[in-house]
Amino acid sequence: MRSVLHIGSGPRGIHRLHPIFQAGWREVRLDLDPSVEPDIVCSTADMRAHVASETFDAVWSSHNIEHLYDHEVPRAFAEIVRVLKPDGFFLVRCPDLETVLEAALRDGLESTAYVSPAGPITPLDMLFGHRASVARGNAFMAHRTGFTDIRLGRLLLEAGFAHVSTKRASGFDLWAAAMMPQANVQECLTTLAMTGLSFTE
Ligand SMILES: C[S@@+](CC[C@H](N)C(=O)[O-])C[C@H]1O[C@@H](n2cnc3c(N)ncnc32)[C@H](O)[C@@H]1O
Repeated sequence: MRSVLHIGSGPRGIHRLHPIFQAGWREVRLDLDPSVEPDIVCSTADMRAHVASETFDAVWSSHNIEHLYDHEVPRAFAEIVRVLKPDGFFLVRCPDLETVLEAALRDGLESTAYVSPAGPITPLDMLFGHRASVARGNAFMAHRTGFTDIRLGRLLLEAGFAHVSTKRASGFDLWAAAMMPQANVQECLTTLAMTGLSFTE
């Protein structure tokens, strides 16, 4: 069985895992917020005390990297490279800042962009973090940086990934699949495409 490190996992829930990880994978959940009861409590920006090098086949991040301070991002990506096996891969989803800014300029900062299980989400929420959660005192939900496809791809390559694919998807999502030097890029991209996430369309 392969293992996936789920960074910024939030509360446990099979729906929080990307479909590619839902069969034949062992999930290890990591989050800075102890109240979501992760397997590992620490920041994505420094996992050295908790995660040994070259131990995971994949790292999965959904709406986590925008919660880092901008200066922590290169360190976090270097940490992800460190904990991945030489043939591993990193799959990441975060807000697409270009689409968010377009919506803000077109419809207004406080317009409803979409309705999530947590309620209506505005461009302001996507820029600075879910305001209702932050207002309740959950500072872990604040956003501290942002990414375009060009920027995310460049930072991942600079961190040491050998091959990076990015995708601006519908629904304000920006995706990247970043491969370690010995990863089978074509096999991984084909498997992702079979789950509905194609980096070539
Ligand atoms: C928007 S939630 C995403 C939860 C889940 N991944 C999902 O997509 O449903 C962001 C999560 O990142 C966590 N987080 C914030 N800063 C973090 C950091 N520096 N290191 C690890 N986790 C962090 C928060 O506590 C929260 O659980």
